[in-house]
Amino acid sequence: MKALPADDPRNFVQQANVHCVHCDSIPDNYIQVHQNWFFFPWHRWYLYFNERILGKLTGDDSFALPFWNWDSLGGMMLPSIYADPTSPLYDKLRDAKHQPPFLVDFDYNGTDPNFTAAQQIDHNLKIMYRQFFCNGKTPMLFLGSAYRGGDQTNPGGGSVENMPHNNVHTWTGDRTHPNFEDMGTFYAAGRDPIVFAHHANIDRMWSLWKKLTRKHRDFNDSDWLKTSFLFHDENADLVRVTVKDCLKTQWLGYTYQDVKIPWLEARP
Ligand code: C2O
Repeated sequence: MKALPADDPRNFVQQANVHCVHCDSIPDNYIQVHQNWFFFPWHRWYLYFNERILGKLTGDDSFALPFWNWDSLGGMMLPSIYADPTSPLYDKLRDAKHQPPFLVDFDYNGTDPNFTAAQQIDHNLKIMYRQFFCNGKTPMLFLGSAYRGGDQTNPGGGSVENMPHNNVHTWTGDRTHPNFEDMGTFYAAGRDPIVFAHHANIDRMWSLWKKLTRKHRDFNDSDWLKTSFLFHDENADLVRVTVKDCLKTQWLGYTYQDVKIPWLEARP
């Protein structure tokens, strides 16, 4: 991706900029995909095309993006494959202190708490349980508030988007940069390859939300279901995709590995 011509839509920087097509640095009439009900579907399609492009470029049609399962006991730190400065997965603009094995803080807001490792883990697991079950009971609470033509841009994000999604972004970015670049801000987040692993876990949360409780259902609002987005596919062709076609990962050709979910037992 990094070696492709700069104007190829599959180029690494172009892929990062796709995240910023819907980003706050475009002032007039922009469509936002954060802090509303498009957060999960738009990012699922974003990952899907990024993965298809990587599959095509590597000649491996079965290529799958990994998920950074920060909600598991062994995953609550920057995965070491991203921390190796000689790796293409490395990014300079990350917090110097938050290198493995430093533990992620799910409500991080710029200052590190004074927790022991056991306290930090317990704190994170309780946040997960709370955001998933207590604060995410309805489609609006979990997926985000309705956002239709003419509406104000930020009607309100879903529980897991607000925390820990946003906090893991900020936690990963470099606190000595004004917007916690790269991960801490929309325009730059896609420049850190870890954004795709972070979002694969967010995407997994959407699947889990529906899988763990039958009461959890997607919106059946046709404005949501019929909304479409544009992306470049693995052949650099512009394609239009809809929310209703991404509701099940199986339709997009993938599922998430079943892994232990320690926060299921972490009722606050
Ligand atoms: Cu487009 Cu993790 O935000």
